[in-house]
Amino acid sequence: MFLVQHLPGWSKGAVALHLTKPRLCLRFGASQDFIISLSGGNMSTEKKELRSRVLSLRSALSPSDRAEKSKGIIKNLLDLPEFNKTKTVMSFMSFGDEVDTTEVAEAVLAMEKVLILPRCASERRLHLSRITDLDRDLEAGMWGIREPKKSGLEQVDPSVIDLVVVPGVAFDLQGNRLGYGGGYYDRFLKLVNPSAPRIALAFEIQIVSWLPVDNYDEKITALLTEKGVYRF
Ligand SMILES: Nc1ncnc2c1ncn2[C@@H]1O[C@H](COP(=O)(O)OP(=O)(O)OP(=O)(O)O)[C@@H](O)[C@H]1O
Ligand SMILES: [Mg+2]
Repeated sequence: MFLVQHLPGWSKGAVALHLTKPRLCLRFGASQDFIISLSGGNMSTEKKELRSRVLSLRSALSPSDRAEKSKGIIKNLLDLPEFNKTKTVMSFMSFGDEVDTTEVAEAVLAMEKVLILPRCASERRLHLSRITDLDRDLEAGMWGIREPKKSGLEQVDPSVIDLVVVPGVAFDLQGNRLGYGGGYYDRFLKLVNPSAPRIALAFEIQIVSWLPVDNYDEKITALLTEKGVYRF
């Protein structure tokens, strides 16, 4: 059994066959390369392989390309009506070669909205704090990601969040998301008000035609890239 996976931006002239048990996925795209993996149909292996493929594509973007695309993506977020009307925004501080989200946090504070940022805690849970000053309230946490300080900050319940800005590795155009493999956001998003928009930020090269999806995987409601806004 093998998986024929194709990345990224597969679109025109496509034929696809998906059978989940046994897992067989065949795709024929018009113009792109194919990636063939011998995953044996194991969901977690498929997720690992896809993460690795997309992370290599993302790390191949030059710093200037990444910075320019990040600016466009953040502009798309700041222009969204649902972002503008919202009062309490949870975002995340980017690390490595992710879309640079520093400006999101700055904009939320400048617009006098409530800014909430997560901290990775034990049992793969996110702990939330209200942040009022990016220099004073943050420190390097797990994996060097800037996170809220452990003490002295107002702790927040997920139910107060009006809009969540979601990180991720790969996305399809049906609202499915592949994260970094910790299950942090899958656990956390179950606690957020279902009416709160879940908006992911990613480069266009992080969009794939198909993702392995488990029953615990949480979906997003919109994906913003440098090319525009995809709603689900
Ligand atoms: N609600 C949940 N309760 C318990 N375990 C969960 C839950 N959601 C996910 N998990 C576990 O988390 C692990 C990682 O899941 P998955 O590979 O989908 O992570 P991910 O979506 O890539 O990561 P993240 O959510 O951190 O971005 C899996 O072993 C899964 O069993
Ligand atoms: Mg998941």
